[in-house]
Amino acid sequence: MVCIKSILTLGLVVGSTALPKNDTLPGCGEVNVFYTGLPPYHKYVLEQGYPGDEAAGAIKNSTRELINAGYNVKMFLAGPEQPMSVTEDRMKGRHWHITGVGFGVRGSTNGEVITKFEDNLMLFRRQGPNSPTVFNYNP
Ligand SMILES: *[C@@H]1O[C@H](CO)[C@@H](O)[C@H](O)[C@H]1NC(C)=O
Ligand SMILES: *[C@@H]1O[C@H](CO)[C@@H](O)[C@H](O)[C@H]1NC(C)=O
Repeated sequence: MVCIKSILTLGLVVGSTALPKNDTLPGCGEVNVFYTGLPPYHKYVLEQGYPGDEAAGAIKNSTRELINAGYNVKMFLAGPEQPMSVTEDRMKGRHWHITGVGFGVRGSTNGEVITKFEDNLMLFRRQGPNSPTVFNYNP
């Protein structure tokens, strides 16, 4: 219960498919979250008007909140210049219950970043086919 309440506080939306078929909610340390986005000092973050230090602080704080709420979090930040195979390698070898893409990617109007967003979603379909993908509501 505590875990679900905390993730809602963070503004992440988890679909009902995140709940197990039995009525027992998963406990702390039982839910693996893979989260990707742009590195905080990436030129495409700065171009969107987010100061790097602020973006870095927000990413750090949100990740800490997820961990404190009992989630196993793997964060991998990569710009469009990074091949998707690098992200895919980071996802291998673990079952991901929840996947996410950060606001710097989703809010961008840059074609390269939009393509990265699409590539991330397609990767999530392959590496976590039945897992909900979640989005935070702001940077
Ligand atoms: C019910 O779900 C919980 C949380 O995912 C899991 O730990 C438990 O093993 C499940 N129980 C059964 C009987 O499937
Ligand atoms: C991150 O958390 C620290 C400590 O709670 C706070 O001082 C800081 O303002 C936060 N940074 C952001 C960007 O939210």
